[in-house]
Amino acid sequence: MSCFAEYTFIAGCEEAFAIDGNAVTFGPGVLAECGPQLAALGARRVALFTDVRLAALPHVAIARASLRTAGLDAVVYDQVRVEPTDGSFADAAAFARDGGFDGYLSVGGGSVIDTCKAAALYATHPADLYAYVNAPIGEGRAVPGPLPPHVACPTTAGTGSECTGIAIFDSVARRAKTGIASRRLRPSHALVDPTCTETLPASVVAAAGFDVLCHAIESYTARPYTARTRPTAPAPRPMSQGRNPWSDLGSLEALRLGARHLVRAVTDAHDVEARHALAWAATLAGIAFGNAGVHLPHAMSYAVAGMAHDRGYHCPGYPAGEAMVPHGLSVVVNAPSVFRALAPSCPERHLEVADALGAETRGAGPEDAGALVAAALIAMMRKTGAPNGIGAVGYRPEDLARLGDGALAQRRLVDNAPVAVDADAMRALFAGALSYW
Ligand SMILES: [Fe+2]
Repeated sequence: MSCFAEYTFIAGCEEAFAIDGNAVTFGPGVLAECGPQLAALGARRVALFTDVRLAALPHVAIARASLRTAGLDAVVYDQVRVEPTDGSFADAAAFARDGGFDGYLSVGGGSVIDTCKAAALYATHPADLYAYVNAPIGEGRAVPGPLPPHVACPTTAGTGSECTGIAIFDSVARRAKTGIASRRLRPSHALVDPTCTETLPASVVAAAGFDVLCHAIESYTARPYTARTRPTAPAPRPMSQGRNPWSDLGSLEALRLGARHLVRAVTDAHDVEARHALAWAATLAGIAFGNAGVHLPHAMSYAVAGMAHDRGYHCPGYPAGEAMVPHGLSVVVNAPSVFRALAPSCPERHLEVADALGAETRGAGPEDAGALVAAALIAMMRKTGAPNGIGAVGYRPEDLARLGDGALAQRRLVDNAPVAVDADAMRALFAGALSYW
């Protein structure tokens, strides 16, 4: 029995879900509120994290003016790397440690916000870089105490990092993407100013937008929270607690918004309404996956992105001179293959996803669910110039085993899938993602 029709309580399993969140302020112009917000949180000396491209744009000037007006001392760190690495996290942490800051401000995309989280963490609770990193790649040690206030201002509509306790980086030495996950990493306040997305290149809007869609679909189709074993003593639920009635709300609305606005926002740089709607979809999806967790397309993306250095793929609109697959693209290239394969495990949910994505679902049966979701995603990928599967970013059939091993190492994400996946199944998912058209 359960008070939620779509969730069934199982003897010995979890019956409660948690809603964790930070303060969020959403609307045009709210970037200029960062100074008063940090002052209200008790900050006096602020580290402002951004990247070199953004440092020259008006967003950072607006943020600095706001800090100044609020009487706060600020030092800018603009050396954040797009798709951060263990080395770039360590550099940012050294800056934070040496600066004596009592507040943090991030103005940028997910790379900037994640780097700021990591810098605040290691400056406050010094440790070896891999101490807090997810096992098995890191030690998975718990963050020992709270962090100073962090106000996060996203300038892309994608990662949702402003609402999550996750910081992702590329472990160059171990050729894998991994991260740190802790509630203590969640920024104190997210200021989501959708006007920041108006000047983004189309390729950045596309990559970030597909990240939003995948956050929403993965949160909506994750293993239910009721499938986890009930703890014997009261303990905080894991952040990846599985889909639940709260994450369902944000996921579905983010999907509907993304389906209506992603292609418009990419193909028409002047479509302000579409870009602002995507910013709201990103916020909703971030809140949802911050409370449910994502699963296989993201687990696979870390293998795709982690091995990208020698594949030669370069995405227009991203820093030149280095092969890398932007996060959202490294996720969506796996997504049609995954949802096609997983739909039979919960066909009703996948049919709802297809419906939210705008697919024609009248007369469709459970056996059609996976194909409908895959077709809706593939149509959007084609309209926005996304790569045609992992083959288009440089992978070949002989890479499947290594990709599979890399994805299986993302245990937190693999365990959040609606079905158990072994090495053969993971290889088959990558094989299905080699190309779509
Ligand atoms: Fe993501």
